[in-house]
Amino acid sequence: MENTKKVNYHESKFINQNGIQQTIMIPVVQDLAELKTLPENFIQNPAATHPFPPNASFEPIDMVKIQSREIRKLGRVCEDWGMFIIENHGLDPRLLHDRRGRAAEVVKRFFELPFEEKKSSVGTYTSADNMGYGRNFVKSEDQPLDWIDRLAMKAAPEGASDGLCVWPTNPPNFRSVIEKYVKATRKLMNELLQALAKAISLDKQSFSQYFNPNTSEINVRVNYYPPCPRPDLALGITPHTDASALTLLMQFESSNGLQVFKDDHWLTVPWPCNTLLVNLGDLMEIMSNGRLKSPWHRVMTQSEMGRSLIALFYNPPAQVEIGPVKGEEAMEEYKKVVVKEYLKHFYKVSPTASKVAIMYAKVN
Ligand code: OGA
Ligand code: NI
Repeated sequence: MENTKKVNYHESKFINQNGIQQTIMIPVVQDLAELKTLPENFIQNPAATHPFPPNASFEPIDMVKIQSREIRKLGRVCEDWGMFIIENHGLDPRLLHDRRGRAAEVVKRFFELPFEEKKSSVGTYTSADNMGYGRNFVKSEDQPLDWIDRLAMKAAPEGASDGLCVWPTNPPNFRSVIEKYVKATRKLMNELLQALAKAISLDKQSFSQYFNPNTSEINVRVNYYPPCPRPDLALGITPHTDASALTLLMQFESSNGLQVFKDDHWLTVPWPCNTLLVNLGDLMEIMSNGRLKSPWHRVMTQSEMGRSLIALFYNPPAQVEIGPVKGEEAMEEYKKVVVKEYLKHFYKVSPTASKVAIMYAKVN
């Protein structure tokens, strides 16, 4: 027998075309990691990867110099790539990937728990929309599946997921460690909102004006990509943009998973392990009147080892209406949208074969 491991299933709930809630059972990918062949429902046949252009300017952004000469570089890298690596972020390394713990360690310890313990540690995950331990984005029985297990929580506004039991209680320090990480990185993201506005010659409050310390949203998602028998046939995450304003990613164990679509090619982002990467989302594209575009990206898997990652999705409060902040350009190319309405639209249409969700916010 090829796989001696018992395969457990996530219950994934979705509303079908007739408006009826349906539940599909999706295998827990961790339980498939020892297979030698890829189960058919994971076959996606991703388009080929091209080499990253050796002379491309994908320079890391130095947070120490962000008030001065780094600003122009930030504008250039964002206009070219829609994402950037940050260095000298000033975060306490013990918060990130210290041996004894912190963010990387609690994530690892959670995924090492047996399935039943994970499930009971997270509680009533199926009743909370797309939150907790499980899957999202599955919309039909015949949709090809991504090679990923994930865990999703709301870290802000404060108290947003109280009572939903979506935060694991095991390891016991999971929530406190992740909340500390969120608190520290939130400062960094606020700084970046201002820097990004300045980078495209707008007033520095242009984007941060929509945010609010008490009601802005931060969704935390932990992605775990177990080793995959056929990285050439599978995807960790199917191509997408992020719906957020900013996404802050920290990866551990391994790199070479994230790819960006540029000039008709898929390129592996040269993103070293244990560093932070910022990805611009659709809400940023709208606020910047299309000058800062959300990149189309996907995640590849690998056969030798797993990879995990913490993603923070930073959004203005759900009820806020955002709109394009115009610079010198003549026209507003995007409409005003209420954050919540945009997100609703995004999740309703996703996954899509190309970057179309944003059309909802574009002036025709
Ligand atoms: C995402 C994402 C990138 C990665 O979670 O939206 O794009 O490398 N993640 O896991
Ligand atoms: Ni993404």
